[in-house]
Amino acid sequence: MNQKDTEKKLAADKAVEFIEDGMTVGLGTGSTVFFAIKKLGERVKQGLKIKAVSSSNASTDLARSFGIEPVPIEDAGVIDINIDGADEADRFFNGIKGGGGALLFEKIVALNSKKNIWIIDSEKLVSRLGKYPLPVEVIPFGYKRVLDILRKYSPAVRMKADGFFKTDSGNFIFDLHLNKIEEPMPMDAELKQITGVVETGLFIDIADTIIIGRKDGTEILNK
Ligand code: 5RP
Repeated sequence: MNQKDTEKKLAADKAVEFIEDGMTVGLGTGSTVFFAIKKLGERVKQGLKIKAVSSSNASTDLARSFGIEPVPIEDAGVIDINIDGADEADRFFNGIKGGGGALLFEKIVALNSKKNIWIIDSEKLVSRLGKYPLPVEVIPFGYKRVLDILRKYSPAVRMKADGFFKTDSGNFIFDLHLNKIEEPMPMDAELKQITGVVETGLFIDIADTIIIGRKDGTEILNK
């Protein structure tokens, strides 16, 4: 395993230690969460009883492959702990998410959760957000107008080999090249008031705990 994956696994395994019998657990999305779902699956096999809520089709498939059957969010009630990754996080508990395109459902799961734990490798902890392109979810209908409004932020419509990348809701992702975000809150508000923008990858003040994988262990930041 390479250094980055080792850090991701260390952070993920540590997060799963917070899960107790009877809890409802949010499953984020991405390559770091992969390790958490795998670990959770191992604990479930050993007898841990949980309810899981997934934030994406990909995580639902993954959970099933590890013996966890997610329940619909509508039937789950309040989620006790949500474990998710991030593309960037700062020490003010703000972050950028959506590198995997699951930001809308991830935010909904996060906002339904009592405690949000982010698991990241050490490179993702930054002093200022924005180097990572900010994903914004946009409705396909009339998207060129939104693209035009966002022109100043050098938006790239996310593509895959056979056409547009589509989220689990069938929307597009625009990746904004901001380089630095001085103030996340007004940036988020500016983007959200554009008709056609569904959600942004700015997660402000949502994480309660950030677990950073380091080469020889983990660092835990608590709000
Ligand atoms: C997906 C996400 C992911 O949590 C984020 O992209 C981090 O992914 P990874 O763990 O693969 O680096 O927000 O929408």
